[in-house]
Amino acid sequence: VTFTVEDQEGNRQEIEAPDDMGLSLMEILKASEYPILATCGGMALCATCHVEILEGENELGEATDAELDQLENLPEYFPTSRLACQIRISPLLEGAVIKLRGEDN
Ligand code: FES
Repeated sequence: VTFTVEDQEGNRQEIEAPDDMGLSLMEILKASEYPILATCGGMALCATCHVEILEGENELGEATDAELDQLENLPEYFPTSRLACQIRISPLLEGAVIKLRGEDN
């Protein structure tokens, strides 16, 4: 599957990721060397993998309650905010545009 990632500086890059391995978007972002802390290791507990879905949000569906609990504690989040660790890499991501919103240090 191919989708676009926009970093904190607004630079966009197309990412191609295998959609049959059960990986999360967080894992792919880390593997692509984006600066995502993912302190909790993908347990929906740290919110450092916060992303905003700029395009494709209808395909991906809404954030789960576990995600919302974390997102609501952030100083800033958006109507299409998600936790990247809770998004499974699947064909649904085709053409999506994902903006990094998490901590970058
Ligand atoms: Fe911690 Fe996603 S990696 S909430």
